[in-house]
Amino acid sequence: MADQAPRAGFSHRTIERNVTLLGVLALVAVAIGGIVEIAPLFWVDSTVEKVDGMRPYTPLELAGRNIYMREGCYLCHSQMVRPFKDEVERYGHYSLAAESMYDHPFLWGSKRTGPDLARVGGRYSDEWHRDHLNNPRSVVPESIMPPYAFLAEKPLKAGDMRKHLATLRRVGVPYTDADIAKANDDLVLQATADADASDLQQRFPKSQARDYDGNPAVVTEMDALIAYLQMLGTLVDFKAAEAQEQPK
Ligand code: HEC
Repeated sequence: MADQAPRAGFSHRTIERNVTLLGVLALVAVAIGGIVEIAPLFWVDSTVEKVDGMRPYTPLELAGRNIYMREGCYLCHSQMVRPFKDEVERYGHYSLAAESMYDHPFLWGSKRTGPDLARVGGRYSDEWHRDHLNNPRSVVPESIMPPYAFLAEKPLKAGDMRKHLATLRRVGVPYTDADIAKANDDLVLQATADADASDLQQRFPKSQARDYDGNPAVVTEMDALIAYLQMLGTLVDFKAAEAQEQPK
């Protein structure tokens, strides 16, 4: 039998019987697979499609996001609407890669004890969030979410936000020099009622400046967390994008 297919039999046999040659060729085969998977990530700018409206977090939103991480909210809440009919009907448009492009780290989560929060911004009033965080049972009687009333008592100690923004810029978040220089002032300004926020809103479109926690005297952790919750999913205008795509 072997002499009937001498050439093919010979070359394969050579490879299988020479450990070094087999090893080298196996490595080459695996390396090709690896390069095909890994190489595109070096051009990740072009793999994540840009979407109108996305901007980096304001310093106050970022501080709120840090509290969200510190308190482990992501253990019960996802921030990723999957492209399934039931999810889209409940939460809104499925999440786009670009919506997480400035997230370090991302907070997609992997468990939904509570609902997905990727598009919770604007769904409830600040008062509702305040009541809900103080005592979830006061607004949702059957809720099993723990209370976070202490957040309203704790003045926000976010540290030097200029350093935080500068660090994020090093990993690719496009904060400007002005954003970084004004970060600590922006933080307070966005939590102040009746402040002139036009400069902030010009640099961070759709950012909302107001007193979130109902206590204008102090900027608390509650202010930052509600500011963060209220902006989630509000940056990309899906209605406008859809209207543009399919004019009726
Ligand atoms: C032990 C799990 C658990 C943890 C931890 C948790 N939640 Fe919840 N959360 C829930 C559940 C369950 C609900 C649904 C019932 C309700 O509205 O209270 C919920 C509801 C919510 C809602 C309303 C969402 C909607 O669309 O109605 C928000 C906002 C929210 N949580 C924010 C937070 C934040 C912020 C944190 C962290 C400070 C947090 N949760 C921590 C379980 C949790």
